Amino acid sequence: MSVLDQLLAELGPDVVTPGPQVPAPHHHDWSGEPPVMPLALVRPRTTAEVSAALRLCHASGTPVVPQGGRSGLCGGARPVPGGVALSLDRMNRVVGIDTRQATMTVEAGCVLQNAQGAAAEAGLLLGVDLGARGTCTVGGVISTNAGGVQVLRYGMTRENLLGLEVVLADGTVLPAMNQLLKNNVGVDLKHLFIGTEGLLGVVTQAVFRLHPRPTHTATAFAGCAGPGEMLALLAHARATLGPALTSFEAMWPSFYDVMRPGIGAAHPLEGTHGMYVILEAGGFDASVTERMEASLAGAMEAGLVEDAVIARNAREEAGLWAVRESVSEYGRILGQMTPFDIGLKLDLMEEATNRMDQALRARWPDVRALFYGHMGDSNLHLVVNVPGADPQPSKEVKEIVYGLTRDYGGTVSAEHGIGTLKRDVIGYSRSPEELAAMRAVKAALDPKGILNPGRSFAA
Ligand code: LAC
Ligand code: ZN
Repeated sequence: MSVLDQLLAELGPDVVTPGPQVPAPHHHDWSGEPPVMPLALVRPRTTAEVSAALRLCHASGTPVVPQGGRSGLCGGARPVPGGVALSLDRMNRVVGIDTRQATMTVEAGCVLQNAQGAAAEAGLLLGVDLGARGTCTVGGVISTNAGGVQVLRYGMTRENLLGLEVVLADGTVLPAMNQLLKNNVGVDLKHLFIGTEGLLGVVTQAVFRLHPRPTHTATAFAGCAGPGEMLALLAHARATLGPALTSFEAMWPSFYDVMRPGIGAAHPLEGTHGMYVILEAGGFDASVTERMEASLAGAMEAGLVEDAVIARNAREEAGLWAVRESVSEYGRILGQMTPFDIGLKLDLMEEATNRMDQALRARWPDVRALFYGHMGDSNLHLVVNVPGADPQPSKEVKEIVYGLTRDYGGTVSAEHGIGTLKRDVIGYSRSPEELAAMRAVKAALDPKGILNPGRSFAA
């Protein structure tokens, strides 16, 4: 019996959809890579069904690509030809919140925003937040160790996880649902599955640690003379706001001056500046706004900020974030593009971004190279569009940008992962010894290599 017939016989047609009937959204992710029709789409309702599907795929050596919200930008959620797309979208429950322990147990298919909302209802905060919150799922966030706009305060996804339930390639269920903040028994296995893009197992459930929920936020939008002042402002904001500082997002004019008119957003400052920054602080009484005001006043006196505004209400807050959160509009505003999520040490950031801009411009004088990013996390985004080029010269663009990233000792992926798109540059940021150790772990947990073949460090 074919593996498709076995899957249908064991899980039924409600769970298993054969390739030709698989809805188009399951053929691709947000990477812009061409769609692939899978052998079948499997949509389990329980961990036992995930286990059964993997057992059958393992026995027959059938590739499996897990899918969450499919909002990944690196091709990791795109099916492989002849393989199964394993969507966790039905396993979307918030199982429970322990308010005394401040933990949340949630299924992997839960949309991040829903998990955030459940934490908020319990008076707590889930420390992971990113622009795709309404689409991405907890499982995808875990498998990419997602970053986002609050990493500065709460850390990456890894720092917010206490436990996981994972199904291994052969169908074995690994119950590692630790609920304790401190637990030092042996290997903390959950870390193998965080940020490894589904290569080592399929996450089905997670335990998050939650945080006290700030009752007051102060959101500011500042204009600085240039990158040097912006970086000095970061140090100043850290020193004056301490752990209250939740976000520090920088936008170069190359980004701001294209995306702001692109979405028709208002400019909150009177003049133009060499750099724009969103600062957000969270606190537990109204004094957080005064602290933000005092911090910005100090920054102005020191010549780090030329002009700034602080939002007076939630509507103005959303207005200040609008351009920064417009990235899902790239397709409409820029057309085809090559995106980056590189990491660079802050003392190299200004020089490296200038060199990247110059190198791209030397090759394509009318290139649109949009720089922005999570400066509080040393994480730079760059989106490159060469006008009129179809397809985009992505290979050459990547050679320029990743080559300089390597030369400056940076990372080719600070938060999005490797997927299919960065496989050929993984060695720019990891040593041969590290890659060999990764492959040894892969061989031990997935000896037939059925999970996400051809992605990240998988063969
Ligand atoms: C961002 C996504 C693309 O920060 O990572 O906009
Ligand atoms: Zn980002």
